[in-house]
Amino acid sequence: MYILGIETSCDETAASLIKFNKKTKQVQVLSNIISSQIQIHKKYGGVVPEVAAREHVLNIIPVINEALNKTQLKPKQLDLIGITKGPGLITSLMTGVETARTLAYAWNKPIIEVNHIDGHIYSNFINPQSTIKFPALILTVSGGHTILLRMSKGQEIKIIGETRDDAAGEAYDKGAKMLNLSYPGGPIISYYAAQYKKTLNKLNNKKKSLKKSILEPILLPRPMINSNNFDFSFSGLKTALLYQLQKDPNWRERVPAYCFQYQQAIIDILVSKTLKAAKKFQVKTIMLSGGVSANIELRAQMANMVKKNLPKNNFLVPDKKYTTDNAVMIAVAAAHKSKGHKSVNFKQIRVDASLQLK
Ligand code: KG4
Ligand code: ZN
Repeated sequence: MYILGIETSCDETAASLIKFNKKTKQVQVLSNIISSQIQIHKKYGGVVPEVAAREHVLNIIPVINEALNKTQLKPKQLDLIGITKGPGLITSLMTGVETARTLAYAWNKPIIEVNHIDGHIYSNFINPQSTIKFPALILTVSGGHTILLRMSKGQEIKIIGETRDDAAGEAYDKGAKMLNLSYPGGPIISYYAAQYKKTLNKLNNKKKSLKKSILEPILLPRPMINSNNFDFSFSGLKTALLYQLQKDPNWRERVPAYCFQYQQAIIDILVSKTLKAAKKFQVKTIMLSGGVSANIELRAQMANMVKKNLPKNNFLVPDKKYTTDNAVMIAVAAAHKSKGHKSVNFKQIRVDASLQLK
């Protein structure tokens, strides 16, 4: 079947066409168009909803046209439209949903509403590096969400834990702002952290005492790492960074060191909770998803810890281009959900900015 996916939940206008084999569940990505607004929002240090909404209106039709034109497909060949219903910014979501409604009416096509987090989860099903064995554990870490889920063989999901305050990506973005770095925080913090790691490795070959003096003053907590549940909290870490910066008159000269320590605190929490949940729920596969799962250190450290502690487990990460917001993951989620799921009449399709996962 051929599916058009549309995603406009935050600051990316995206459309994609996929070919989905219902029997084998194999996905062929025919087009993946993303118009990112990062350069526009960078000036403001974060996403400005009104600006995002206006950009979506300008971009949605050209983006869908491009996604179609990249393929030989005609709209009449489509089997289904998959659209992000929520959660996200309501004024951003509306552009995608209204466009999908109009196309469903004009082309007489069924439509499936997709939860944005389900989209991230299904980014692991686009080109799985190996067979996904169930039950599976999925850590979704993005700018708006930090959720640990268990997925059964029938692909039903159950939330095991989530953040009580900021999301992991939000911690990166807010940390970057404090360190006077640009938006989005994840890529820039991980860049400086990697630079610092290189410096540390060089020092390792020299005097150990020198290394210690560089590290010593930056001690950051790992909130809730030992809590008796699978929930997360990142706002205390952010405040701890703020206090450290206020105490350190020379922090501007030590930005890479701060990035390294701050990132490591986030990774320690994510890895520790994921391993604990994987053991408790005896899962066979562990998967990452969401924008933060683009992080090289998180991917490497999680892989390493899974190999060491749960060697029988499969560890999967999506292709990097499918970690941040895109419409391929929405089309794939719609494809999986189309089985035994009645498509909704276009008249009943509605945005839900705080849509819950089911
Ligand atoms: O999934 P996504 O594109 O949007 C949401 O659904 O929120 O995730 C965006 C988030 C931002 O907070 C950004 O800082 C973070 O993902 N991010 C990263 C990296 N690339 C993007 N975080 C850590 N390391 C990265 N390389
Ligand atoms: Zn997202």
